[in-house]
Amino acid sequence: APILAPNLTLCHTPLSLPDEEEVFSCCAPDFGQPAVDFNMTEAAMAAATGKIRVRRAAHNMSDADAARLARAYAAMRALPVGDPRSYDQQANIHCAYCSACYQMGGISTPLQVHGSWLFFAFHRWYIYFHERILAKLIDDDTFYLPFWNYDHPDGMTVPYSYVQSSELRDDNREPACLPPATVFTDFYYYNATLRTEFEQIQANLATIYRQFVAAPDTPYRFYGQPYRAGDGPQPGYGTAETQPHNSLHGWTGNQKNLLAKDMGALYAAARDPIFYIHHVNIDRLWEVWRGLGRDDIDDPDYLDSEFVFYDENAQLVKVTVRDSYDTLKLGYAYEWVENQWLDLNL
Ligand code: C2O
Repeated sequence: APILAPNLTLCHTPLSLPDEEEVFSCCAPDFGQPAVDFNMTEAAMAAATGKIRVRRAAHNMSDADAARLARAYAAMRALPVGDPRSYDQQANIHCAYCSACYQMGGISTPLQVHGSWLFFAFHRWYIYFHERILAKLIDDDTFYLPFWNYDHPDGMTVPYSYVQSSELRDDNREPACLPPATVFTDFYYYNATLRTEFEQIQANLATIYRQFVAAPDTPYRFYGQPYRAGDGPQPGYGTAETQPHNSLHGWTGNQKNLLAKDMGALYAAARDPIFYIHHVNIDRLWEVWRGLGRDDIDDPDYLDSEFVFYDENAQLVKVTVRDSYDTLKLGYAYEWVENQWLDLNL
Protein backbone atom coordinates (compact mmCIF):
# COMPACT_ATOMS: atom_id res chain seq x y z
CA ALA A 1 0.00 0.00 0.00
CA PRO A 2 1.16 3.58 -0.56
CA ILE A 3 2.61 5.81 2.15
CA LEU A 4 -0.23 8.08 3.24
CA ALA A 5 -0.06 11.71 4.34
CA PRO A 6 1.38 12.04 7.86
CA ASN A 7 0.11 14.12 10.74
CA LEU A 8 2.77 16.83 10.86
CA THR A 9 1.84 17.87 14.37
CA LEU A 10 2.99 14.49 15.74
CA CYS A 11 6.70 13.88 15.82
CA HIS A 12 9.67 13.15 18.01
CA THR A 13 13.07 14.79 18.38
CA PRO A 14 14.85 14.76 15.03
CA LEU A 15 16.84 11.58 14.53
CA SER A 16 20.60 11.78 14.78
CA LEU A 17 20.45 15.12 16.55
CA PRO A 18 23.95 15.46 18.05
CA ASP A 19 24.06 15.63 21.86
CA GLU A 20 25.61 19.06 21.63
CA GLU A 21 22.65 20.41 19.72
CA GLU A 22 19.85 22.03 21.64
CA VAL A 23 16.82 19.75 21.52
CA PHE A 24 14.00 21.12 19.43
CA SER A 25 10.88 19.87 17.78
CA CYS A 26 10.19 20.17 14.09
CA CYS A 27 6.48 19.42 14.45
CA ALA A 28 4.13 21.78 12.67
CA PRO A 29 1.81 24.00 14.70
CA ASP A 30 -1.54 22.37 15.36
CA PHE A 31 -4.35 24.39 13.84
CA GLY A 32 -6.79 21.52 14.21
CA GLN A 33 -7.23 21.96 10.50
CA PRO A 34 -8.00 19.04 8.24
CA ALA A 35 -6.05 18.81 4.98
CA VAL A 36 -7.92 19.58 1.78
CA ASP A 37 -7.09 17.60 -1.34
CA PHE A 38 -4.97 19.41 -3.89
CA ASN A 39 -7.24 20.45 -6.73
CA MET A 40 -5.38 19.50 -9.88
CA THR A 41 -8.08 20.75 -12.24
CA GLU A 42 -8.13 24.14 -10.59
CA ALA A 43 -4.33 24.37 -10.56
CA ALA A 44 -4.13 23.42 -14.24
CA MET A 45 -6.84 25.95 -15.14
CA ALA A 46 -5.00 28.71 -13.29
CA ALA A 47 -1.77 27.70 -14.99
CA ALA A 48 -3.40 27.67 -18.42
CA THR A 49 -4.97 31.10 -18.05
CA GLY A 50 -2.30 32.83 -15.97
CA LYS A 51 1.41 33.31 -16.15
CA ILE A 52 3.77 30.37 -16.19
CA ARG A 53 6.64 30.92 -13.80
CA VAL A 54 9.92 30.50 -15.61
CA ARG A 55 12.66 29.38 -13.26
CA ARG A 56 16.00 30.78 -14.33
CA ALA A 57 19.60 29.90 -13.50
CA ALA A 58 20.73 31.66 -10.32
CA HIS A 59 24.03 32.79 -11.82
CA ASN A 60 22.16 34.45 -14.71
CA MET A 61 19.52 36.25 -12.66
CA SER A 62 19.12 39.96 -13.29
CA ASP A 63 19.82 42.30 -10.38
CA ALA A 64 16.12 43.04 -10.25
CA ASP A 65 15.26 39.35 -9.91
CA ALA A 66 17.90 38.88 -7.22
CA ALA A 67 16.54 41.87 -5.31
CA ARG A 68 13.00 40.52 -5.59
CA LEU A 69 14.15 37.15 -4.29
CA ALA A 70 15.76 38.80 -1.27
CA ARG A 71 12.60 40.81 -0.67
CA ALA A 72 10.46 37.69 -0.71
CA TYR A 73 12.71 35.97 1.84
CA ALA A 74 12.69 39.09 4.00
CA ALA A 75 8.90 38.88 4.04
CA MET A 76 9.00 35.18 4.89
CA ARG A 77 11.49 35.75 7.72
CA ALA A 78 9.25 38.49 9.08
CA LEU A 79 6.26 36.19 9.59
CA PRO A 80 5.52 35.20 13.19
CA VAL A 81 6.96 31.79 14.18
CA GLY A 82 3.52 30.27 14.64
CA ASP A 83 2.72 30.82 10.97
CA PRO A 84 3.40 27.63 8.99
CA ARG A 85 4.66 29.80 6.12
CA SER A 86 7.36 31.39 8.27
CA TYR A 87 10.98 30.67 7.44
CA ASP A 88 11.59 28.45 10.47
CA GLN A 89 8.44 26.45 9.93
CA GLN A 90 9.36 25.93 6.29
CA ALA A 91 12.71 24.53 7.38
CA ASN A 92 11.04 22.39 10.03
CA ILE A 93 8.73 20.72 7.51
CA HIS A 94 11.80 19.25 5.87
CA CYS A 95 13.08 18.11 9.24
CA ALA A 96 9.72 16.51 10.03
CA TYR A 97 9.78 14.46 6.83
CA CYS A 98 13.29 13.25 7.71
CA SER A 99 12.08 10.59 10.18
CA ALA A 100 10.80 13.00 12.83
CA CYS A 101 7.16 12.48 11.90
CA TYR A 102 5.43 9.14 11.54
CA GLN A 103 3.68 7.22 8.88
CA MET A 104 -0.07 7.65 9.11
CA GLY A 105 -1.89 5.72 11.77
CA GLY A 106 0.55 5.51 14.64
CA ILE A 107 3.74 6.61 16.24
CA SER A 108 5.69 3.46 15.61
CA THR A 109 6.99 3.82 12.07
CA PRO A 110 8.95 6.95 11.22
CA LEU A 111 8.45 8.61 7.84
CA GLN A 112 11.59 9.34 5.88
CA VAL A 113 11.38 10.74 2.35
CA HIS A 114 15.09 10.30 1.63
CA GLY A 115 16.72 7.11 0.44
CA SER A 116 13.65 5.87 -1.45
CA TRP A 117 11.50 6.43 -4.53
CA LEU A 118 9.77 9.36 -2.77
CA PHE A 119 12.81 11.60 -3.07
CA PHE A 120 12.07 13.50 -6.29
CA ALA A 121 8.33 13.96 -5.89
CA PHE A 122 8.50 15.00 -2.24
CA HIS A 123 10.98 17.77 -2.97
CA ARG A 124 9.07 18.91 -6.04
CA TRP A 125 5.98 19.54 -3.93
CA TYR A 126 7.96 21.07 -1.14
CA ILE A 127 9.59 23.60 -3.52
CA TYR A 128 6.28 24.18 -5.26
CA PHE A 129 4.57 25.39 -2.09
CA HIS A 130 7.63 27.24 -0.84
CA GLU A 131 7.82 29.20 -4.10
CA ARG A 132 4.10 29.98 -4.05
CA ILE A 133 4.32 31.27 -0.47
CA LEU A 134 7.21 33.56 -1.39
CA ALA A 135 5.33 34.81 -4.46
CA LYS A 136 2.21 35.52 -2.44
CA LEU A 137 4.13 37.37 0.27
CA ILE A 138 5.35 39.93 -2.24
CA ASP A 139 2.17 39.68 -4.28
CA ASP A 140 3.96 38.87 -7.54
CA ASP A 141 2.75 35.96 -9.63
CA THR A 142 5.80 36.02 -11.90
CA PHE A 143 8.09 35.35 -8.95
CA TYR A 144 10.24 32.25 -9.36
CA LEU A 145 12.89 30.41 -7.43
CA PRO A 146 16.08 30.17 -9.47
CA PHE A 147 18.05 26.96 -9.91
CA TRP A 148 21.60 26.47 -8.78
CA ASN A 149 23.00 25.39 -12.14
CA TYR A 150 25.97 23.47 -10.74
CA ASP A 151 25.91 21.03 -13.63
CA HIS A 152 27.03 23.81 -16.01
CA PRO A 153 30.60 25.19 -15.84
CA ASP A 154 29.25 28.74 -15.47
CA GLY A 155 27.13 27.77 -12.47
CA MET A 156 29.66 25.71 -10.54
CA THR A 157 30.10 28.12 -7.62
CA VAL A 158 27.77 29.26 -4.87
CA PRO A 159 25.72 31.96 -6.66
CA TYR A 160 26.86 35.45 -5.70
CA SER A 161 23.40 36.60 -4.65
CA TYR A 162 23.41 33.80 -2.07
CA VAL A 163 26.57 35.27 -0.55
CA GLN A 164 25.86 38.98 -0.92
CA SER A 165 22.28 39.26 0.29
CA SER A 166 21.81 38.92 4.03
CA GLU A 167 18.42 37.30 3.38
CA LEU A 168 19.98 34.56 1.25
CA ARG A 169 23.15 34.02 3.23
CA ASP A 170 23.69 31.46 5.95
CA ASP A 171 26.31 31.55 8.69
CA ASN A 172 26.74 27.80 8.70
CA ARG A 173 28.32 27.40 5.29
CA GLU A 174 31.78 26.01 4.77
CA PRO A 175 34.08 29.04 4.30
CA ALA A 176 36.30 27.10 1.88
CA CYS A 177 33.31 26.56 -0.40
CA LEU A 178 32.40 30.20 -0.92
CA PRO A 179 33.01 31.68 -4.39
CA PRO A 180 35.18 31.30 -6.36
CA ALA A 181 35.48 27.67 -5.12
CA THR A 182 34.24 25.14 -7.68
CA VAL A 183 31.44 22.83 -6.52
CA PHE A 184 32.30 19.25 -5.72
CA THR A 185 29.48 17.09 -7.02
CA ASP A 186 31.15 13.83 -6.02
CA PHE A 187 32.18 15.03 -2.60
CA TYR A 188 31.46 12.80 0.31
CA TYR A 189 32.17 14.53 3.57
CA TYR A 190 35.87 14.68 4.33
CA ASN A 191 36.88 12.70 1.31
CA ALA A 192 38.03 15.62 -0.82
CA THR A 193 40.85 14.94 -3.22
CA LEU A 194 43.04 17.62 -4.69
CA ARG A 195 42.03 18.62 -8.18
CA THR A 196 42.70 21.68 -10.30
CA GLU A 197 39.69 23.82 -11.13
CA PHE A 198 39.67 22.44 -14.67
CA GLU A 199 39.80 18.87 -13.40
CA GLN A 200 37.00 19.54 -10.94
CA ILE A 201 34.77 20.99 -13.67
CA GLN A 202 35.37 17.93 -15.84
CA ALA A 203 34.75 15.65 -12.87
CA ASN A 204 31.46 17.41 -12.19
CA LEU A 205 30.25 16.99 -15.76
CA ALA A 206 31.23 13.33 -15.64
CA THR A 207 29.43 12.86 -12.32
CA ILE A 208 26.18 14.28 -13.63
CA TYR A 209 26.42 12.18 -16.79
CA ARG A 210 27.10 9.05 -14.79
CA GLN A 211 24.32 9.59 -12.25
CA PHE A 212 21.63 10.70 -14.69
CA VAL A 213 22.50 8.80 -17.88
CA ALA A 214 25.02 6.00 -17.56
CA ALA A 215 24.36 4.39 -14.18
CA PRO A 216 20.57 4.27 -13.77
CA ASP A 217 19.59 1.33 -15.98
CA THR A 218 16.18 0.87 -14.35
CA PRO A 219 13.72 3.43 -12.96
CA TYR A 220 14.38 2.13 -9.45
CA ARG A 221 18.09 2.70 -9.84
CA PHE A 222 17.28 6.27 -10.78
CA TYR A 223 14.51 7.13 -8.30
CA GLY A 224 15.40 4.92 -5.37
CA GLN A 225 13.90 1.70 -4.05
CA PRO A 226 10.21 1.02 -3.32
CA TYR A 227 9.00 2.40 -0.01
CA ARG A 228 5.50 1.35 1.05
CA ALA A 229 3.26 1.74 4.07
CA GLY A 230 4.87 0.12 7.10
CA ASP A 231 8.34 -0.15 5.57
CA GLY A 232 11.41 0.93 7.52
CA PRO A 233 13.22 4.07 6.36
CA GLN A 234 15.68 4.31 3.48
CA PRO A 235 15.24 1.10 1.48
CA GLY A 236 17.78 2.43 -1.03
CA TYR A 237 18.98 5.61 -2.67
CA GLY A 238 18.62 6.45 -6.34
CA THR A 239 21.77 7.41 -8.21
CA ALA A 240 21.14 11.16 -8.36
CA GLU A 241 20.19 11.40 -4.71
CA THR A 242 23.68 10.31 -3.63
CA GLN A 243 25.57 12.44 -6.18
CA PRO A 244 25.21 15.31 -6.87
CA HIS A 245 22.46 15.72 -4.26
CA ASN A 246 24.04 14.43 -1.05
CA SER A 247 27.48 15.56 -2.15
CA LEU A 248 26.40 19.17 -2.41
CA HIS A 249 24.73 19.03 0.99
CA GLY A 250 27.95 17.77 2.55
CA TRP A 251 30.11 20.20 0.60
CA THR A 252 28.10 23.33 1.43
CA GLY A 253 27.69 22.79 5.18
CA ASN A 254 30.39 23.94 7.58
CA GLN A 255 32.82 21.06 8.15
CA LYS A 256 33.53 22.33 11.66
CA ASN A 257 29.94 21.66 12.69
CA LEU A 258 28.70 18.25 13.66
CA LEU A 259 27.18 16.60 10.60
CA ALA A 260 28.31 19.68 8.65
CA LYS A 261 25.17 21.61 9.48
CA ASP A 262 23.32 23.46 8.15
CA MET A 263 23.34 21.90 4.71
CA GLY A 264 25.02 18.66 5.73
CA ALA A 265 22.45 17.67 8.37
CA LEU A 266 18.94 16.54 7.46
CA TYR A 267 17.32 18.29 10.42
CA ALA A 268 19.03 21.62 9.62
CA ALA A 269 19.57 21.65 5.85
CA ALA A 270 16.55 23.77 4.94
CA ARG A 271 17.67 26.55 7.30
CA ASP A 272 20.06 27.59 4.54
CA PRO A 273 18.20 29.32 1.68
CA ILE A 274 20.60 27.68 -0.75
CA PHE A 275 18.83 24.42 0.07
CA TYR A 276 15.86 25.50 -2.03
CA ILE A 277 17.79 26.41 -5.16
CA HIS A 278 19.80 23.21 -4.85
CA HIS A 279 16.49 21.38 -5.01
CA VAL A 280 15.14 23.51 -7.83
CA ASN A 281 18.09 22.23 -9.86
CA ILE A 282 17.46 18.63 -8.79
CA ASP A 283 13.88 19.16 -9.94
CA ARG A 284 15.05 20.52 -13.30
CA LEU A 285 17.48 17.63 -13.73
CA TRP A 286 14.59 15.24 -13.05
CA GLU A 287 12.80 16.84 -16.01
CA VAL A 288 15.93 16.44 -18.15
CA TRP A 289 16.04 12.75 -17.20
CA ARG A 290 12.36 12.37 -18.05
CA GLY A 291 13.11 13.91 -21.43
CA LEU A 292 15.39 10.94 -22.14
CA GLY A 293 12.24 8.87 -22.55
CA ARG A 294 13.22 6.05 -20.27
CA ASP A 295 10.85 3.75 -18.40
CA ASP A 296 9.25 5.41 -15.40
CA ILE A 297 7.77 3.78 -12.31
CA ASP A 298 4.11 2.87 -12.80
CA ASP A 299 3.54 1.08 -9.48
CA PRO A 300 0.35 2.53 -7.95
CA ASP A 301 1.92 2.39 -4.49
CA TYR A 302 4.39 4.96 -5.77
CA LEU A 303 1.93 7.11 -7.70
CA ASP A 304 -0.63 7.15 -4.88
CA SER A 305 1.89 8.11 -2.18
CA GLU A 306 0.80 11.26 -0.35
CA PHE A 307 2.29 14.27 1.41
CA VAL A 308 0.82 17.30 3.13
CA PHE A 309 2.13 20.85 2.94
CA TYR A 310 0.91 24.29 3.94
CA ASP A 311 0.10 26.40 0.91
CA GLU A 312 0.37 30.15 0.34
CA ASN A 313 -2.84 30.71 2.31
CA ALA A 314 -1.61 28.63 5.26
CA GLN A 315 -4.08 25.93 4.25
CA LEU A 316 -2.97 22.35 4.75
CA VAL A 317 -3.08 20.58 1.38
CA LYS A 318 -2.76 16.90 0.56
CA VAL A 319 -0.93 16.00 -2.65
CA THR A 320 0.07 12.80 -4.43
CA VAL A 321 3.13 11.70 -6.34
CA ARG A 322 0.88 11.18 -9.37
CA ASP A 323 -0.10 14.86 -9.48
CA SER A 324 3.52 16.00 -9.41
CA TYR A 325 4.29 14.83 -12.90
CA ASP A 326 3.13 17.69 -15.13
CA THR A 327 5.02 20.87 -14.24
CA LEU A 328 3.10 23.00 -16.73
CA LYS A 329 -0.12 22.11 -14.94
CA LEU A 330 1.63 23.15 -11.76
CA GLY A 331 2.35 26.46 -13.43
CA TYR A 332 6.10 26.44 -13.89
CA ALA A 333 8.76 25.69 -16.46
CA TYR A 334 12.52 25.95 -16.75
CA GLU A 335 14.56 28.39 -18.75
CA TRP A 336 16.47 26.49 -21.42
CA VAL A 337 20.10 25.96 -20.55
CA GLU A 338 22.72 23.90 -22.28
CA ASN A 339 23.24 20.57 -20.54
CA GLN A 340 26.82 20.02 -21.57
CA TRP A 341 27.10 16.80 -19.59
CA LEU A 342 24.38 15.21 -21.74
CA ASP A 343 26.77 15.18 -24.68
CA LEU A 344 29.51 13.32 -22.85
CA ASN A 345 30.09 9.95 -24.29
CA LEU A 346 31.79 8.04 -21.55
CU1 C2O B 1 15.40 16.64 1.56
CU2 C2O B 1 18.37 17.91 -0.22
O1 C2O B 1 17.23 16.95 1.02
